[in-house]
Amino acid sequence: MKLKKDELEMLDGKRGLAVQRAMEFLVKYAEALGAEEMVDTQNVCGTLNNTTPFLDTLMDKFDGIEHLMSELNYNCADVKEVPRVNIFSCQLEHGLDPDTWEKQYVKKSKYDINLKDEELTRKMNVNLICTCSPYLVGNLPVFGEHCVWMESSAVVYINSAIGARTNCEGRESSNCSMLTGKTPYWGMHVPENRLGHYYVDVQYPIESVRDWGILGYYGGLIAGEKIPVFDSITSKPNLECYKHAGAAGASSGGTEMFHVAGHTPEARTLEEAFGHKKPLEKFILNKKEMERCYQLLNTANSDDVDFVMLGCPHYSLRQLWETAVMLESRKISGNVELWVFIPRALREVADRNGYTKKIEDSGAVLMADTCPALGRVKPPNAKTITTDSAKQSHYMAGIFGAQSFFGTVQNCVNAAITSKWEGKF
Ligand code: F3S
Repeated sequence: MKLKKDELEMLDGKRGLAVQRAMEFLVKYAEALGAEEMVDTQNVCGTLNNTTPFLDTLMDKFDGIEHLMSELNYNCADVKEVPRVNIFSCQLEHGLDPDTWEKQYVKKSKYDINLKDEELTRKMNVNLICTCSPYLVGNLPVFGEHCVWMESSAVVYINSAIGARTNCEGRESSNCSMLTGKTPYWGMHVPENRLGHYYVDVQYPIESVRDWGILGYYGGLIAGEKIPVFDSITSKPNLECYKHAGAAGASSGGTEMFHVAGHTPEARTLEEAFGHKKPLEKFILNKKEMERCYQLLNTANSDDVDFVMLGCPHYSLRQLWETAVMLESRKISGNVELWVFIPRALREVADRNGYTKKIEDSGAVLMADTCPALGRVKPPNAKTITTDSAKQSHYMAGIFGAQSFFGTVQNCVNAAITSKWEGKF
């Protein structure tokens, strides 16, 4: 492959061992993908540490957390000291919330490791935003910006809603990009690869965030890793609609990008979305298909609710505000736990506006940094998951074998209060 002068210097070890190992990894990665060159990035979101808590089981095999991180993040054994990064980089989710970890039923040993993780991340000059939605709190890329992001829901969001460019990266590749500012030029970085593949004629009114979640879920099911183009949508989607559609598509399929004709920035017209080519296949999303997807996300065989999770992907300010208003002066059932997840940076806003108080006075808990699917945290006796997120519903069934209720946020809040599910398609 063609490497530029600075890339060759990194490969030759002129910028230190860690950068050399990172560049070696990226070259192998590029070769495996068939990329012929690297592209520069100044925006990396990855995870350096204990996203799904497991490091405590590995600690005694390594001489210190830095050595362990080197092994995990750069795929090599000889980098024992991790340097500070110069590329603007953010830490995505963690495995627990350091403020409410006891309410998440997390063991102290995991909490202690989390503290060490955070210390190392800070030392490395990586921003501890600890959320799956960096675009909500300080990392909002612009159209055409080459990014290296890991979290699948955020990847779809910035590709589709903003027109920034990222593949769905992994732990090692994102960590190596943090050190080098490079990533292979392939996939979503290449304009031709961003064109739509499948045409979807949407013949059902897509209005609520729930509907957008179902639409995204359907897109993932039919398109897998290809790009669906949704047409005939007349409502005006907002940030939350795209956020939930993308998260759902990345869980039911491997969606990294979707277009909404007439709405998303690379699909101002249908022709633009397909690059004036013909779609590979055409689909119709009608009431029957919407209902089929809804049923796939509602697997519970009774109407008893014991655990409600809101905030997947982490709630935006608008969703936090709506939830606080819905819970104001109400009490959730003693049989139910309600956990609401936000990016840590929104806590200050929640506290200052009295949202934290309203939510916690109802008996719910406001949490940050993680989520049940990622941190493997949930109330120990919970048999069900009730959520407004198609993604969380999908994963909780797979990870915990939990039965699921999926619906609108109003359905979920009502269920937390009555301990009964009354949502319907
Ligand atoms: Fe975020 Fe967890 Fe959902 S990491 S996108 S809240 S599965």
